[in-house]
Formats: sequence, structure tokens, C-alpha cells
Amino acid sequence: MKVHKVAVIAGDGIGPEVIDEGIKILKKAAELAGDFSFEFTYFPWGCEYYLEHGKMLPDDGMKQLKEFEAVYLGAVGYPGVPDHISLRDLLLKIRKQFDQYVNVRPIKLLRGAPCPLKDVTHDQIDMVVIRENSEGEYAGAGDWLFKGKPEEVVLQTGVFSRKGTERIIRYAYELARNSGRTLTSISKANALNYSMVFWDEVFEEIGQEYPEVETHSYLVDAASMFFVKQPERFQIVVTSNLFGDIITDLGAAIAGGMGLAAGANLNPERVYPSMFEPIHGSAPDIAQQGIANPLAAIWSASQMLDFFGYEDWGKRVLNVMEQVMVNQKVLTPDMGGNSSTKEVGNEVLALLSNCNIDV
Ligand code: NAI
Ligand code: MG
Repeated sequence: MKVHKVAVIAGDGIGPEVIDEGIKILKKAAELAGDFSFEFTYFPWGCEYYLEHGKMLPDDGMKQLKEFEAVYLGAVGYPGVPDHISLRDLLLKIRKQFDQYVNVRPIKLLRGAPCPLKDVTHDQIDMVVIRENSEGEYAGAGDWLFKGKPEEVVLQTGVFSRKGTERIIRYAYELARNSGRTLTSISKANALNYSMVFWDEVFEEIGQEYPEVETHSYLVDAASMFFVKQPERFQIVVTSNLFGDIITDLGAAIAGGMGLAAGANLNPERVYPSMFEPIHGSAPDIAQQGIANPLAAIWSASQMLDFFGYEDWGKRVLNVMEQVMVNQKVLTPDMGGNSSTKEVGNEVLALLSNCNIDV
């Protein structure tokens, strides 16, 4: 029996509420499969910890986390702690120090999920965005000169290393080849005359190694328009850190909203743990009411199952989520229902247990 050690940082606000449901599903999948199990270790890090200790996690926190195969994260951030502290000192620290340079965001309109676009069927929105997660526009490089003076100048430098650019683009080509899907690069070489010209060149170069992959290349502004007008153009998408951040929120909006969007932060070499999370925040406005939608957290649990090599179980969990949405009976208020977080989790659990769903 393979035992997977998972660190749980449930975090703030609705984080713990939705993570509880994800963990129920992971345990149930393991129980039904019978040949693997999970060992969850909880870390009480986040804003409450910060208010007590003056830091988001203890000094040896990263060392403690390194011992795990994966991190399952709820959400961090809460009124009373500045967002740049909670985000940079915990989430971004983990992404960076564990070299989780691939951010995988599925943008797939599940059956029954709400979609604000007119006349779009669920099979027309089915893509995976591979966002560069370690450098680019979010490298934190730059300067702030003559602060407060009339000649004040700020510089925010995009950092695109050959290694960093090649590895993310190669990851996307591999995924496109292995899944037999097209690959679209999103950049902006007409305006960003160093970074994005380089990005486009590397995309072409690496493409020589994958002659069987059909490729497309769009400017980010045109791509945003096509996300809304013709989302069926996109299958696998690869893009830089900033562009990926923005277009995946757009993607979340067209594919069911914040209550459904999940993301995985991968260290593909598996030298460090990878991290799985719903992409929504801690939603202070609805925290502790028991009405947060747990489906995004459950989708990220499904991504974890995929990552551990149980793609059949990952797929089953998604199928069950679809069933819950198609049935329209047990849904949280953000999806027009009146059920609680726990009731939705229990519904997914019950359907998963009836596991005669084909994958
Ligand atoms: P948010 O995602 O927490 O909430 C935005 C809106 O979506 C709210 O109206 C909320 O009620 C709703 N919402 C979000 N998730 C939901 C769910 N699962 N079910 C039902 N409704 C849901 O974003 P906001 O309000 O900008 O940020 C709140 C805090 O979360 C901030 O401190 C922010 O820094 C942090 N944050 C943390 C993230 C993370 O840990 N990955 C990501 C985004 C924000
Ligand atoms: Mg974002």
C-alpha cells in the first residue's frame, strides 16, 4: 500500500471549511481504491498565526514542509494582516522555494456549471493553461528611484531566463504531445520587444522537437478576446506569469466562477513538494457561515490524485462534481442553491461511493 504524505495548510476564512470537504473526498477515493492511502499533517499557519507570532509560519516551516510529497492549501489572507505580507510570506514563498515553476489551471466548463457566455456548450470550453510560475513579470526585480521627488522613477523588470522559459514551454509541449492536443502560446512581442520576442523564439525553437504538435501563437490582447468569443480555439495554453494570472481569472469566469476554479503548483522533478489549491481567496464576507462552495477545493484534490498517478480517480471525482451540478439539487448559494458546504461535500462523497461511473 502506497502512503502519500500530505501537508495541509487550511489557512484563513473559508480555507478550512472547503479543505475539510476536499480531504473527505481524498480519503474516500483512497478507501475505495484500496491500494493507496493518505497521511495528512495539519499546519495552523496563516493570518491567525501571524497575529500571534508576527510571522506567517515558523522559521523552520519550509524545512518541515519539505518532508511532504504535496501541500494542500485552502486560502490565506484576512482583514487585519496586509495582503502583501500574507501572500508573499506564505504562498509565494512556498511556490518559489519549492521551485513550483508550473502552474496548471484547468479551464473546463463542466456539465451543469454556470457560464456567462451566450450559446456556449460545455465542450467548447476545455483547456489547460500552463502558466510560468517562478519568474517573468513577478520576479520582484526592479528599483524605486528618487522616491517622493518630482523625478521619481520606478522600474519593474520582467525576468525571463533561458532555463526558466525553456522548461515551462517544454512542459507544455510534452503535455500537448501526450494528450494529442494543440498548443497555443500567448505573448506580446509587438510591444515587449525583449522578453516576448525571446519567448516567441524559444517557443519556435522547442517546437522543432515536437513536429507532431499543432501550434498557435496569439498576442495576449487578442487571446483575451478569443477566450470570450471563441474559447474552443484553445486546448493547451502556455504563457508567462503575469499574462497567465490575468487570463486564468478570465478563464475562471467563463468556466463556472470562483467557486469552481482550481490550480496546481508543480515541481515536475518532484525534488520538492507540489501544492494544490482552490484559486479563490479566504472570502471573509462569507466565512464561518458554512456556505462556501467546496467544489474548487475538491477539484484541486482531483488534481492531486492525477499528480500521484491516480488519473482514473481524479477523473471520477470530476465526473461526480459534474453530476452534482447537473442534478442542481445540492449546491451552495453562489451556484443558486441553498445547501451548505458540508452538504455539497457529502453529496460528492455519496456519489463517489456509488462508484459505477465510467472513466
Ligand atoms: P475571494 O476569492 O476571497 O472572494 C471574492 C468573492 O468571491 C467574494 O464575494 C467571495 O464571497 C466569493 N467566493 C470566493 N470563493 C468562494 C467560494 N468557494 N464559495 C462561494 N463564494 C466564494 O477574494 P478577495 O475577497 O479579493 O480576497 C479575500 C482575501 O483572500 C484577501 O485577504 C486576499 O489576499 C486573499 N486571497 C488569497 C488567495 C489565496 O490564498 N490563494 C487568492 C486570492 C485572494
Ligand atoms: Mg490571480
